[in-house]
Amino acid sequence: MLQLQSVNTHYGSSHILQGVDMQVKQGEVVCLLGRNGAGKTTTVSSIMGFARPSSGRILFKDVDITNLPVEKRARAGIALVPQGRRVFPMLTVQENLEVGKRDLAGGWDLARVYAMFPRLRERMNNLGSNLSGGEQQMVAIGRALMANPALILMDEPSEGLAPLIIEEMYRHIGQIAREGASILLVEHSLDQAIRMASRIYIMNKGSIMFESTDPNELTKETRHRLLGVGHSE
Ligand SMILES: Nc1ncnc2c1ncn2[C@@H]1O[C@H](COP(=O)(O)OP(=O)(O)OP(=O)(O)O)[C@@H](O)[C@H]1O
Ligand SMILES: [Mg+2]
Repeated sequence: MLQLQSVNTHYGSSHILQGVDMQVKQGEVVCLLGRNGAGKTTTVSSIMGFARPSSGRILFKDVDITNLPVEKRARAGIALVPQGRRVFPMLTVQENLEVGKRDLAGGWDLARVYAMFPRLRERMNNLGSNLSGGEQQMVAIGRALMANPALILMDEPSEGLAPLIIEEMYRHIGQIAREGASILLVEHSLDQAIRMASRIYIMNKGSIMFESTDPNELTKETRHRLLGVGHSE
């Protein structure tokens, strides 16, 4: 579904991604972990097209998308749930959901998004600026679903949310995966993500330092070294 081959991405003269190789297969939930500033968002931006690799290739459904503009990647079936949610504050919940809509017979539409998130139906006429963090995250996920993507990039969906809300969010993410979307899930913390991931990558200083399909291979020592002191178990 998605392959990154020796991807290097710079911001100005800063060399951020340093030869990243990564893949997400059809129907997989893949988790990309790493501490602050590791390069996770830069990876997601390179896949979505907001950042352009200086070398390397990104393939989506076996097509080279390395130099395609963002809209074409979206149309090809990649959607982003951005870090910090980026809900439009002056649009209502419903308008936010309709922003990137792409109809697909039998796919996601407003009715199905509201069925998944009844809270959003109750608040459909509220402005984005008027939502709790959890509600904003529901809008960000719902907005991505409305594009009926084959691959969803989720950049730290649990950031800043209370534990109970995170648990609920992850139940929804599990449901979305079961409906057939492939997911690249970026997180700081292993806790929830690791349970549903079929593969995990850990990034440090712009390079993939660890890859496994078996979370048990992730020793305490590796966790400590790559994810930092005081990282939750
Ligand atoms: N627009 C930018 N211009 C210049 N440098 C940037 C830019 N965005 C990020 N960086 C730098 O690139 C590095 C990687 O940042 P990135 O946002 O990809 O990390 P991250 O793993 O997503 O971190 P976090 O967990 O805090 O979200 C950091 O050193 C950061 O300071
Ligand atoms: Mg980030």
